Amino acid sequence: MAEERAYAKVNLTLDILRRRPDGYHDMRMVMQSISLCDTLSVEPKAGRDIQLDTNLSFLPCDRSNIVQKAAAAFFTETGIAPAGYRVSLHKRIPVCAGTGGGSSDGAAMLRYLRRTLAPELPDGELLRIAALVGSDVPFCLFGGTALAEGRGELLQPAAPLPKCAFLLCKPDFPISTPELFAQVRAHRLRYHPDTVGMLQALAEGDLPGVCRRLYNVFEDILPRKYQKVWELKRLLMDCGAMGASMTGSGPTVFGIYAGRMEAEEAAGEMGKICRFVAVAEPVSSEEIRRAAGERGDAQPAF
Ligand code: C5P
Repeated sequence: MAEERAYAKVNLTLDILRRRPDGYHDMRMVMQSISLCDTLSVEPKAGRDIQLDTNLSFLPCDRSNIVQKAAAAFFTETGIAPAGYRVSLHKRIPVCAGTGGGSSDGAAMLRYLRRTLAPELPDGELLRIAALVGSDVPFCLFGGTALAEGRGELLQPAAPLPKCAFLLCKPDFPISTPELFAQVRAHRLRYHPDTVGMLQALAEGDLPGVCRRLYNVFEDILPRKYQKVWELKRLLMDCGAMGASMTGSGPTVFGIYAGRMEAEEAAGEMGKICRFVAVAEPVSSEEIRRAAGERGDAQPAF
């Protein structure tokens, strides 16, 4: 039985540049993997199907589950004959929360299949397959700190985030990603994140500079019914965060703290008003490859 960790992500920045003719949007985002993770326990079995179970009773385990979609795309695109697997998915990352949980589960399945069936398959080919599964799946393959453009599949490694801790808080409602994208009129967005400044702050190891530049354009177009998001952000700042933002299409918000101790202390306070709170640390691309038993390139090959 193999255990594959699927790390969550947060958006240090999220910008929407334009709507594309294919209905998707061109994005520019600085993404960061964090230590909050799901685990996939995978073992081969007879047959050609994937038998999936999870600890969350409401999650579908059929072909609509992203783990199943990832496996199907892998076999179709590589031409390798489908094999059977029993996959037990332990979810810790909240669902429909902007933290990349589903994408990361799909990415973890792809890493497992490449390692066990096609170790020679180049990173570029695995990234191409990942993009067919979902827009955030390519980033989740190797994670770390990266600039993501296009639909999210054009990746460039960025300098690692300096040592710090995250506190994540998720309000009790889900936000549907397609629904939120449908509200976007890219030309009407009033503010945009300083992506270049964010990359520069990362390159200089300037944590206060990173925290000053956290920004997600979705926050500005959030319908009023989701105002809890702004409230939680303000409370995170009141609890000593150096900066706070919503991640992805929400509703999870995160604060950045100097260290784990500060984040744990704030978690004690935030836990009184928010059912889901989690403290996490940044995870590098090398750690993700090492945990997956893959070669740890000095410069990840995106
Ligand atoms: O690729 P994924 O399945 O994660 O995308 C979910 C939905 O989010 C898409 O159907 C689309 O409505 C929206 N989306 C978008 N532009 C992106 C990524 C996602 O409009 N770059």
